[in-house]
Amino acid sequence: MADKNENSLKAIDQIRKEFEERIQTAGSTEELDAVHRDFLSKKGKISRLFGLIGKVSPEERPRVGARLNELRQHAQSLLDEKRSSFDKQAKPVEEFDPTLPGREFPFGAIHPMMQVMDEIKTIFAGMGFRIEEGPEIETDYHNFEALNIPEFHPSRAMQDTFYLPDKMVLRTHTSPVQIRTMESQKPPVRMIAPGRCFRRDTPDASHSPTFYQVEGLCVDKNVTFADLKGVVTAFAQKLFGEDIKVRFRPSFFPFTEPSAEYDFSCFCQGKGCAVCKGTGWLEISGAGMVDPAVFGFVGYDPKLYSGYAFGMGIERIAMLKYKINDIRIFYENDIRFLEQFKMVR
Ligand code: PHE
Repeated sequence: MADKNENSLKAIDQIRKEFEERIQTAGSTEELDAVHRDFLSKKGKISRLFGLIGKVSPEERPRVGARLNELRQHAQSLLDEKRSSFDKQAKPVEEFDPTLPGREFPFGAIHPMMQVMDEIKTIFAGMGFRIEEGPEIETDYHNFEALNIPEFHPSRAMQDTFYLPDKMVLRTHTSPVQIRTMESQKPPVRMIAPGRCFRRDTPDASHSPTFYQVEGLCVDKNVTFADLKGVVTAFAQKLFGEDIKVRFRPSFFPFTEPSAEYDFSCFCQGKGCAVCKGTGWLEISGAGMVDPAVFGFVGYDPKLYSGYAFGMGIERIAMLKYKINDIRIFYENDIRFLEQFKMVR
C-alpha cells in the first residue's frame, strides 16, 4: 500500500513537470488552449489524476487530495498568467482602429496681400514688364533728390518718414526703384517694382505706417500718355474684369510732367457705397510722364527718350478685390481673417 501511495505522489509530480514544460514552451494563445485541453479539461491529465484518490489508502487520501488540488490551482494560475502576458503584448494592435478618420494638420495660407501682389506681377509680366527690386532703407538721394524733390520742397511734407543717420530714410514710395533701374540699365526700360514702403502716418481705416506699392516705369522712344492710359486700363480690366472703368484726373508730382491721379470704378457700379464713400470711384494712385529733370539725374537723353511712370497702393487693390473696409486688418495677424484666404485644396 505504501508503494501505491508513493507511486501516486510520483505520478502527480510527473504530470506537474510535464505541465510546466508545456506552459513554458507555449508561444501563442492557441497553444495555451491546447495545454488547457490536455491537462485541465474533464479528460485532461490533471483531471484524470483525481481518480487516484480512490486508489490510495484512506489515511493517505487527504494528502493526495490536497496535493492534487494544489496542482490544479497552480496549473490554472500559470495558464492565466501566461495568457494575460500575451494579452498585454497584443494590446497596441487591438487599440489601432483603421476606420478612424485621420488627424487634420493646419495648413498655412499665402497672405492676401501677397496673393494680390503675385497676381499683379503675373499681369504685368504678361505685358512685357520685368520685375525690379530696391532696398527698403533708401538714400535720401534716391527717395527724394533724384526724383526732383529737393530738400525743403513742400512735397516732402506729404511723405514724412523715419529718418536714419547718414541721410538714409525708410523709403516712402517705390519710385526710388525707377532711379536705381535707370542708373543701371539703358533704355528701353519696362519694369514694375513691388515693395514695402513707410510713412509717418497715424493708422486709421485707410492709413498704415507700413504699406505696399507697385511702381511701373516704361522708357523708350515715342512713349506717350496714351500708352500709360492703355496699360493702366488693360491692367485694371485683367484684374477686375472687362467692365471696370479707369479715369485720370490732373495732379502734381515733382518727378512726372504732366501728372495725374487715376481711379478705378467701384464694385458698387456707381451706386455709391461705404468703400468709395458714395462717389462710385476708388483712388488707386499717381502717374504721369517722366519729368525730363529725372532723366537728367540718371543720364538719359530727354530729347531721344520719353517715358511714363505709375504707382499704386496694393492694399487699396486688395481691399477692392476682397471688399475689405479697414487697411489695419492686413497687419494684425488675426487667424480668423487670414484663414479666409486659404487656397482651395
Ligand atoms: N510715388 C508716388 C506716390 O507714392 C506715386 C507715383 C508714382 C506718381 C509714379 C507718379 C509716378 O504718391
